[in-house]
Amino acid sequence: MAVLKEKTVSEAAAYRRSVRVFTPEPLDDEKVKSCLELAALAPTSSNLQLWEFYHVTDENKKKEIAAACFNQSAAKTAQQLVVVVARRDLWSQRAKANLRYLSKAFESMENLDPKRQKMVMNYYGKLIPTLYSTFFGLKGWVVHLFAQVVGLFRPMYRQTRKSDLRVVAHKSAGLAAQNFMLAMAAIDYDTCPMEGHDSLRVKKALGLGRGAEINMVIGCGKRDDKGVYGARFRVPFEEVYKKV
Ligand SMILES: Cc1cc2nc3c(=O)[nH]c(=O)nc-3n(C[C@H](O)[C@H](O)[C@H](O)COP(=O)(O)O)c2cc1C
Repeated sequence: MAVLKEKTVSEAAAYRRSVRVFTPEPLDDEKVKSCLELAALAPTSSNLQLWEFYHVTDENKKKEIAAACFNQSAAKTAQQLVVVVARRDLWSQRAKANLRYLSKAFESMENLDPKRQKMVMNYYGKLIPTLYSTFFGLKGWVVHLFAQVVGLFRPMYRQTRKSDLRVVAHKSAGLAAQNFMLAMAAIDYDTCPMEGHDSLRVKKALGLGRGAEINMVIGCGKRDDKGVYGARFRVPFEEVYKKV
């Protein structure tokens, strides 16, 4: 059996295109799952990992979700779909998971600096709950106002409203999505990220509740000859590159 050599990061980044037509060739579920494991290695704000990855291989679910993606070709012809979900609402569970992990890690550490330990434990035990907990949306505004006033005098974290924290969760989820697409590209698997979807219908198909937000639906498969719609267009790099 030929062993597929994975592409380098540069090769994978260059190879990855948004593929709108996939061939009928099936994908190996386990390989796609491995790429999702790599997705979960993406950096994430406060290491809260406010994300979930739904790997859709069931034919009926695929059809239901493709319809929620307006049956666009990248969804309809996809062999599998991956839905990246932002879960801001899971902050408490994830903060506790960090606390459990860190408490254990501290136990086995020699020369532990108690000050540092206290700071880290306060971060997940006090600061994160202060930032993420809500009281009918009001608390975020109070913290926000406080941050703006303190921010007049010293550098201050300002992304404290519920809407800011939604952005924070989606940012990290987007990084995971890109990790996934690069990992897929590295093994000659193709993808197409899609925000062209009815998020309520996608959530319904996956049985997700109010707190979950769809970050991206990603069509997966092998590219058809006509799957890439044209040469890659980017504005001149000099326009977006600012050396400071
Ligand atoms: C967040 C996001 C949402 C996108 N949504 C769609 C979509 O709904 N349908 C689609 O065909 N392409 C979608 N795309 C793909 C972009 O059109 C594509 O990335 C862009 O044209 C650049 O082409 P390339 O990915 O081949 O380099 C999306 C891309 C991103 C990052």
